[in-house]
Amino acid sequence: MPSTPTPGPDPDPAPPVRHRMVRSFGSGRSRITRAQERAYRQDFPRYAVPYQAHGLDPVACFGRQAPLVLEIGFGMGQTTAAIASSKPQLDFLAVEVFTAGIGSLAMHLARLDLTNVRIIEHDAVDVVRDMVLPGSLAAVLIFFPDPWPKARHHKRRLITPAFVCALAARLAPAGILHCATDWQHYAEQMLEVFSREPHLTNLHSGFAPAAGNPLCERPATKFHARGERLGHPVWDLVFERR
Ligand SMILES: C[S@@+](CC[C@H](N)C(=O)[O-])C[C@H]1O[C@@H](n2cnc3c(N)ncnc32)[C@H](O)[C@@H]1O
Repeated sequence: MPSTPTPGPDPDPAPPVRHRMVRSFGSGRSRITRAQERAYRQDFPRYAVPYQAHGLDPVACFGRQAPLVLEIGFGMGQTTAAIASSKPQLDFLAVEVFTAGIGSLAMHLARLDLTNVRIIEHDAVDVVRDMVLPGSLAAVLIFFPDPWPKARHHKRRLITPAFVCALAARLAPAGILHCATDWQHYAEQMLEVFSREPHLTNLHSGFAPAAGNPLCERPATKFHARGERLGHPVWDLVFERR
């Protein structure tokens, strides 16, 4: 009887699964108020959708069929809560990694008794890649993404050609990609990256007016107010899936 070979080192091991090493968010923000912490524990579970490595079923998630909007990096969630309450006919998948912000949004949602928002606490790059099905989104909103102003940090910016290509693939035909920033260099980079993506068309000539999103207008947030106070313009970009 042939003897069982003794296991030795695999001469041709499978390549390790590659993880994205550069994150678009910092790890430094840990301040959280008592109210946010309480809302994170008590209210967030009502709205939480855990990250999963396979496609999300929006009908099972929201209990209805409605146009689905993805918001990436909602910060404290004021914009999310404002848009979601003014657009009850839309469903919002809101993605953030910042615990205080998640507590804050959960608090707004509970106060307003909104039922059309779900929160995913995870890196949006993984969420888009793994959970959002191709052609499933009516819009993607990315308002004031971390600007990473130093040249050596530009590689951490969320908006890259690869990520925009992934977002475009998840938009339904005529779906909207709306971004805003108060950093001119980032705004110009966004305009270049979006304009080069073959599946997107600019709905405006260059930058858009703040009210240039035909599905849902961007309300003014604290970043918008700060930009105005400092005399910075805010640049909006509104593109459509071809
Ligand atoms: C400058 S804040 C803007 C917040 C909000 N959109 C607003 O307009 O007030 C950017 C937010 O994006 C979040 N963020 C950055 N990269 C992210 C990622 N890959 N996935 C999820 N959230 C991210 C950060 O935690 C931060 O709260």
